[in-house]
Amino acid sequence: MGDQGNGLNRREFLKGLGKTALATVVLGSVTSRMFGAFSHPENIGIPTFTLNNGLQIPVLGFGTSTLNDDVAIRSVSDAISVGYRLIDTAHIYGNEEAVGEGIKQNGIDRKELFITSKLWVDDAGYESTKQAFATSIKKLGVDYLDLYLIHRPKGDVKGSWKAMEELYEAGKIKAIGVSNFLPEDLEELKTYSKFDPAINQIEAHVFFQRKDFYPYLKKSSTQMEAWSPFAAGRNNIFSNPVLAKIGKKYDKTIAQVCLRWHYQRGVVAIPRSSQKAHMRENLDIFDFELSQQDMELIKTLDLDTTQFPEWG
Ligand SMILES: NC(=O)c1ccc[n+]([C@@H]2O[C@H](COP(=O)([O-])OP(=O)(O)OC[C@H]3O[C@@H](n4cnc5c(N)ncnc54)[C@H](OP(=O)(O)O)[C@@H]3O)[C@@H](O)[C@H]2O)c1
Repeated sequence: MGDQGNGLNRREFLKGLGKTALATVVLGSVTSRMFGAFSHPENIGIPTFTLNNGLQIPVLGFGTSTLNDDVAIRSVSDAISVGYRLIDTAHIYGNEEAVGEGIKQNGIDRKELFITSKLWVDDAGYESTKQAFATSIKKLGVDYLDLYLIHRPKGDVKGSWKAMEELYEAGKIKAIGVSNFLPEDLEELKTYSKFDPAINQIEAHVFFQRKDFYPYLKKSSTQMEAWSPFAAGRNNIFSNPVLAKIGKKYDKTIAQVCLRWHYQRGVVAIPRSSQKAHMRENLDIFDFELSQQDMELIKTLDLDTTQFPEWG
C-alpha cells in the first residue's frame, strides 16, 4: 500500500486518533496519520507519509502554478476550506503574495498548514539562496516554510544546498528538498551534503510513470512527490478509456483513479484546480482501493516520456 515503508505502523496511528477519526480514515487496508485533522469544518483529514527527518507530509496537496492574482487568492482559500493542508508554490510562479493572501483570507492557523516554495535557478548560490528564501517567506506572510526545494539542478547547487541546510538547522525550514533532480544529480548532491533531500518533486503521472527512477527513489530516503499528477490534462487524460473503465468499477472519476494510483504507489501528489468541485473531488480518494489488476492495467498507459518537452 501507499504508506508502506514510510515508517508508520498501525499502533502509532491508533495512538494519535479517536474513534471518530478512525471511522474516517481506516478504509480498506490504508492506515496513516492524518494532517491537521478535524480542526476545520470541512477538513476530511488527509493521511500523511513520514519524511526522512520524521516530518509528516500530507499525501495530497494543492498545486498553484498558473493560478494568479484573484484566482490564486480565491483558489487557495477554497482549497484550505475543503481540506487541503499542503500548498505548493514557487518563486517562479509569481504568486507567492496571492497564495499568502489566500491563506490569510481563509483565516486558518499557520501551524495547520504545510507550505512549500521553491528556489528558482536565477537565485542559485549560497548568499542568493538566503536572500531568495527571505523574499519568499515575506511574500507569503509567514516566518518559516515547511518545505523548500531547489526547483531545478542548475547553477551553484552546492552553495544553495549549504544555505538551505543552515536555514533548516536554524528552524526556518522544516524540511529541505529538490525538484527535477535525476539520479545522477542526487548522487552528486550526496558527495557534499550533510542532509539527504527529504523530497524530490518530479513530473509523474500515468503517461510518465518514471519506471527506472521510481524504484531508485523508493530505495532511497528521499520521498517522491509528483508534479502535474494529471499531466496538466495533456494527452486527453480526462477522457482516457482505460482510466474511465477502471473508474466506473469503483464509481470514481478519472481524476480520482489517477490520484489514488499515486497514493497507492506511495507518492505525494499536488493536483491543481481552480474549481471548488474539482478540489473536493480530488480529495475523495480515501474510501476505495485499486486492485492489483487495475494497478497493472494502469502500467500499460506508460509512454515513458515527458508530456512537457518544451520545458527541456
Ligand atoms: N517542480 C516543478 O518543476 C513543477 C512543474 C509543474 C508543476 N508543478 C506543481 O505541480 C502542480 C500540479 O501540476 P499542474 O498544475 O501542471 O497540473 P495538474 O495538477 O496535473 O492538472 C491541472 C489541470 O487539471 C484540471 N483538473 C483538476 N482536477 C480536475 C478534475 N477533478 N476533473 C477534471 N479536471 C481537473 C485543472 O482544471 P480546473 O482548474 O478546471 O479544475 C487543470 O487544468 C502545479 O500547480 C505546481 O504546484 C511543479
